[in-house]
Amino acid sequence: KTAIRGALLTFRRDPLLAGVEAGMYYESDGVVVIEAGGVAAVGPATLLSGLGADVAVTHYPEHLILPGFIDCHVHYPQTEMIAAYGEQLIDWLNHYTFVTEQAFADKSHAAEVAEVFLAEQLRHGVTSSAVFCTVHPDSVDALFEAAERRQMRLLAGKVCMDQYAPAELLDNAERAYAESKALIERWHRRGRAEYAITPRFAPTSSVAQLEALGALAAEYPDMAIQSHLAETPGEIAWVKSLHPDCPHYTAVYQRYGLLRPRAVYGHGVHLADEELQLLYDSGASLAHCPSSNAFLGSGRFDLRRARAVPRPVRVGLATDLGAGTSFSMLQTMRSAYEAAQTHGVALSAPQAFYLATRGSAEALGIADKVGSIEVGLEADLVVLNLRSTPLIDFRMRYVRDIEEALFVQMILGDDRAVAATYVAGQLQPAAGLAG
Ligand code: GUN
Ligand code: FE
Repeated sequence: KTAIRGALLTFRRDPLLAGVEAGMYYESDGVVVIEAGGVAAVGPATLLSGLGADVAVTHYPEHLILPGFIDCHVHYPQTEMIAAYGEQLIDWLNHYTFVTEQAFADKSHAAEVAEVFLAEQLRHGVTSSAVFCTVHPDSVDALFEAAERRQMRLLAGKVCMDQYAPAELLDNAERAYAESKALIERWHRRGRAEYAITPRFAPTSSVAQLEALGALAAEYPDMAIQSHLAETPGEIAWVKSLHPDCPHYTAVYQRYGLLRPRAVYGHGVHLADEELQLLYDSGASLAHCPSSNAFLGSGRFDLRRARAVPRPVRVGLATDLGAGTSFSMLQTMRSAYEAAQTHGVALSAPQAFYLATRGSAEALGIADKVGSIEVGLEADLVVLNLRSTPLIDFRMRYVRDIEEALFVQMILGDDRAVAATYVAGQLQPAAGLAG
């Protein structure tokens, strides 16, 4: 048994739907007791008096303990091409992404990038994520092997695509099915690994491949699915031309059995009301990727519209690296704030922190394991230094309450704010870059 003490914040329920009072749990002096990789107790620091003297307590004064951040849509092979200049989505894919991803035919290259990627995530306090690999099954093995060494709860899958990309990156319907299935058998629910069925997006899968992946999904009704949806107007027009008989983009995924709980679609920037309704009715989720949308000029996601009652679509927060520009979920919250502002909405700090923790966990269907600090959940935690730069330190003197403190962190904070990251109760070494 060990314990960590500091200010403590977690979300038991969605503060947008439940109200901040009901959704947010905050202790100005709190404690988390960790046992066997899980949370054994959580509450005010007065709990400490009931613990045995043998329990080692790590105290983080002036720090905030949160659930580890969860990035619900990210591409690890794109780590080496983050900040690729000058293109929008389809040209960016053709000129940069589809070149970069070819190198992942070499497993040793994939393994090297996987190390850098996971080390960077932990350095930024990201303890779980849903990750796109490449078309190569070895790229999935490389990532899961690296995650297993760190005991990280990770969802990942082999990208399936069989058209409109270089031949070196294409599989076909049968291979997509068979290779995904072999990876499922090797990795799904091995330790903290979970497989996610991963068609890249509708344009790069033939109808035969969509059917094959729908059949695979039907064999594993509880399995996560990840893809992209309605990121740019040009992509939407392309899907319309490929599937003229479907009323809209979302209906393509529905037709092939890929719309259901634990199906997480990146972006959803340009969706009609009936598509949002369909996402809600099916239980599927959206991954809000604001820094990616800004970087590629894809558009500005309207979070309030997506979450509008009576059909609040489940939404998590995501970097979408390498189109996204930071591993930092604080910086991604800032981008989400800026996107909401363009729609005349001020995203609150509790909502943003919820999206980056429990919101992503709910979207991925792992909220019974991580995303919150609760007895029985796994002890994936991040400790934020609330005074991580001279400017933030100065600004914090004028902060009146926790909500304002959180807002300052999400606007001004980055990896420098991450003082410690715990995975399954284990303090992670302060990592420099691997390799
Ligand atoms: N749509 C299809 N593939 C991708 C990708 O790799 N990144 C982004 N941002 N959008 C995509
Ligand atoms: Fe993406």
